[in-house]
Amino acid sequence: RTEIKALFQNSAELADRQVTVCGWVRTLRDSKLLGFIELNDGSNFQNLQVVFEDAKIDNFKEVTKYNVGASIVVTGRVVLTPNAKQPLEIHADKIELEGASDPAYPLQKKRHSLEYLRSIAHLRPRTNTLAAVFRVRSVAAYAIHKFFNERGFVYAHTPLITGSDCEGAGEMFRITTLDAKNPPLTEDGAVDFSQDFFGKMTSLTVSGQLEAEAMAMAFGKVYTFGPTFRAENSNTARHAAEFWMIEPEIAFADLEDDMQLAQDMIKYVLAYVMEQCPAEMKFFNDFYDPNKALIQRLTDLVNSDFGKVTYTEAVRLLEEHKDQFDYPVYWGCDLQTEHERYLTEKIFQKPVFVIDYPKEIKAFYMRLNDDGKTVAAMDLLVPGVGEIIGGSQREERFDVLTARMEELGLREEDYSWYLDLRRFGGTKHAGYGLGFERLIMYMTGVSNIRDVIPFPRTTGSAEY
Ligand code: 4AD
Ligand code: MG
Repeated sequence: RTEIKALFQNSAELADRQVTVCGWVRTLRDSKLLGFIELNDGSNFQNLQVVFEDAKIDNFKEVTKYNVGASIVVTGRVVLTPNAKQPLEIHADKIELEGASDPAYPLQKKRHSLEYLRSIAHLRPRTNTLAAVFRVRSVAAYAIHKFFNERGFVYAHTPLITGSDCEGAGEMFRITTLDAKNPPLTEDGAVDFSQDFFGKMTSLTVSGQLEAEAMAMAFGKVYTFGPTFRAENSNTARHAAEFWMIEPEIAFADLEDDMQLAQDMIKYVLAYVMEQCPAEMKFFNDFYDPNKALIQRLTDLVNSDFGKVTYTEAVRLLEEHKDQFDYPVYWGCDLQTEHERYLTEKIFQKPVFVIDYPKEIKAFYMRLNDDGKTVAAMDLLVPGVGEIIGGSQREERFDVLTARMEELGLREEDYSWYLDLRRFGGTKHAGYGLGFERLIMYMTGVSNIRDVIPFPRTTGSAEY
């Protein structure tokens, strides 16, 4: 059996040879004695054209009745077609049905809306758009591992079940082995979590950062790449309840080093995907970018530097355009998506790091700046999406950290292991979290997070 990708790659060598290919029928049309099948086996973005003739195969009539979606096995001769849209086709000697497809198959030739395709998430990887997205997703994941491994990072597996709320935003999914309908109670009538599997209340993690910091204090450079969970009740195009995050953590490093790493990583991944997925990227360029300029834009980006602005300066710039926004913008506000997008799309017109946010709107672990008001945080904002990275230099000073925790009402005993990292050879260190789905949205131009993850989990949807 030959994969369609191998046929396209070695067409010159295979010319006039007989091959066997397997795949799913994308389209089928026929006239009296001649028919054409567009076949896809998943190895190649472009379909393979199969030509079949009544004079050459013994089941011509039967083949013309195959429905779209059927799986078949074709043996035939490779014919080069240098003047056609596809570089080659197969002239069939034999076509066998592997699995018939019911005529109710929903993916007939017409174009379907992305909204409709979400309702058939189990079938949508067979469409051009979703096939291209999920291939890019796979290749981008590989590129990220390749990037960090080439730089000597250790891939750290951090727990998904945890007892701590890293971001302190109270957006955790609780997990418990207690009977929800009839839980054991303590004497004062509260749910008795001491009888839970873990003996305490636990949750699905919102971030692997705190544990990644522990690993970084041994290996110097680590990264995580895994699922994270947030019970954010925001029904937007860029929030999912289950998403994948990449979290590098580097010792003896400050915020500048952190931003340099983030920029290097994004550029590396973009370049790698454009090189490995030219057909998919051309498809996004032509069908998802209003100006058909996606590839040009990403290529330019790989060859330039991202912007950088302090939060204070960003707010000042946004205030000049305040009539453009639904939400007010003022020093101390949490930037809304509309603000983020305005900054990166209108003002900078490229990805931009916003640094030094007010401490009130950031997590407890971020390093306090000398002004006493801001922290050494950085968010990377990109056109079309907004925030794709959130990171910071970490507070390594024991006293400053515990003082901040006290201000926020975090109990030292709950974080004693985390404080140990400052007690025993603590160093300056920094890291960030990249939302993987948001990176894929940025790279493909696909604008809804539900269309870049195979089986999305968003408010009110867990059908699969
Ligand atoms: O900015 P966040 O909350 O940062 C952290 O979790 C840090 N602990 C990361 C670190 O420093 N190691 O999340 C990081 C990124 C965001 O910039 C965003 O891209 C993505 O994770 N993200 C989401 N993606 C999809 N759906 C959601 N609900 C997301 N929440 C955050
Ligand atoms: Mg953030």
